[in-house]
Amino acid sequence: MKEKFVIAGNWKMNKTVSESIAFVEGLNILLSIKKDSSRFKKIKIILFPPFTSLYSLKGKSPYISIGSQNMFYEEKGAFTGEISSRMVKEVAGYVLIGHSERREIFGEKDSDINRKLKTAFDFGLTPMLCIGETLKERESGKTFEKIEKQLKEDLNGISPEKLKGLYIAYEPIWAIGTGRNATPDIAEKVHAFIKMQMEIILHSKYDLPILYGGSAKPDNCKDLLNEKDINGLLIGGASLKADTFFDIIENSIELVE
Ligand code: PGA
Repeated sequence: MKEKFVIAGNWKMNKTVSESIAFVEGLNILLSIKKDSSRFKKIKIILFPPFTSLYSLKGKSPYISIGSQNMFYEEKGAFTGEISSRMVKEVAGYVLIGHSERREIFGEKDSDINRKLKTAFDFGLTPMLCIGETLKERESGKTFEKIEKQLKEDLNGISPEKLKGLYIAYEPIWAIGTGRNATPDIAEKVHAFIKMQMEIILHSKYDLPILYGGSAKPDNCKDLLNEKDINGLLIGGASLKADTFFDIIENSIELVE
């Protein structure tokens, strides 16, 4: 069965191992109430905890998939402080690539992101590529140009066969952690554009989820998910408390036919 929505939580640099386990145990209890509903089966839940919590969350929930927030493109060796896809693969199925905080704070370039995506695919991980414009780019009418450039450079040289397994998150940088989400209409326009670009690159239909991220929360999630090309949410701040994250999942269940 194809999932209808993907609800993903990006914890960033938050939660110790014990806090991560407590969160998942709490969320499991809340989710177990929903487990028999056929609508619930159409929601995919992914959590991106910090590296230190990945192993402890492996297999901790029948309802939740786990992903890494980052990884390096080399397989092993003298790269102090980095982890590789081989390491991620043992504990998680997903990996976030190119989050704007990685790009802006840690200087990741599109060429690095491209290498990371290639390695993730080689190791059978499902990458979730994050793209999005700054406020300055939006205000100067450069949103679509930026998105097109990021897709072109980040996906350069990756076969359409592999790209059919790519998740994308549109995260306007001005909406991340600001409490100011993109309006559903603004987000939808960019999602439709991303879909179109992917179909040009693939020469065929692109049906994997395109998630929206940037101040998504319980009271705006339904309006966002109601848009035609918004197939999920990547949630930062509002994913840190199990009950708030659960509220978003519950709201999304209501929208499944
Ligand atoms: P936010 O973060 O929900 O706190 O805005 C989203 C993200 O950075 O993935």
